[in-house]
Amino acid sequence: MKIETNELIIRNFELRDENDLCEYMLQRVNAEFEAYPDFTCQKAKEEVEFRAQSDEFYAIELKKEHKVIGNIYLGKRSFNTRELGYVLNENYQHNGYGSEASKAVIEYMINQGVHRIYAECAPQNTHSWRLMDRIGMKREAHFRKNVSFHKDTNGQPIYWDTYVYAILNPYEDDYSDR
Ligand SMILES: CC(C)(COP(=O)(O)OP(=O)(O)OC[C@H]1O[C@@H](n2cnc3c(N)ncnc32)[C@H](O)[C@@H]1OP(=O)(O)O)[C@@H](O)C(=O)NCCC(=O)NCCS
Repeated sequence: MKIETNELIIRNFELRDENDLCEYMLQRVNAEFEAYPDFTCQKAKEEVEFRAQSDEFYAIELKKEHKVIGNIYLGKRSFNTRELGYVLNENYQHNGYGSEASKAVIEYMINQGVHRIYAECAPQNTHSWRLMDRIGMKREAHFRKNVSFHKDTNGQPIYWDTYVYAILNPYEDDYSDR
């Protein structure tokens, strides 16, 4: 897959992206959302090799700097569905790039005939769900205290709620809610 937008190229990872991947993934080690607590730069080579072969992870390259500033995840799910995920380098957030990339991959997937694209996020992750609102995804569910990524000081799980957002392929009969 290769998609070009105004500012970005969304493409397969390449081995030369190792340092860029390492830069934004290190920011995720202690992150509140979308954390990768075990990530180290030693693992970046292995990770970029894996992603370069993957048809679920895509690099977001900023055209003007020829730099990978994040990634899109498009996990394959049953019933011709994809799960969308996204992470942007903190130094490049709040420029509209996350929205631009997500909108472009959704359009691409819809044109490829994918039936449904969904994503999940915590209600506290306002940047994430506002992004989904902005690009036309619909909030379909609010699950209460259904996931736990962190423990409290007593080692007890801290449960979070989950929003589920989705978009249906508007070119399929009867789905006009895009
Ligand atoms: C969620 C995430 C990908 C959004 O990426 P982003 O590139 O910052 O997204 P955008 O720039 O499109 O939108 C973010 C905000 O910047 C604002 N913005 C966009 N362009 C802007 C500009 N030129 N100047 C100022 N603000 C701008 C948007 O209005 C938006 O504001 P809002 O969140 O209050 O609605 C990013 O915050 C991230 O990587 N978070 C950590 C990982 C994560 O949580 N992933 C999702 C897990 S569910």
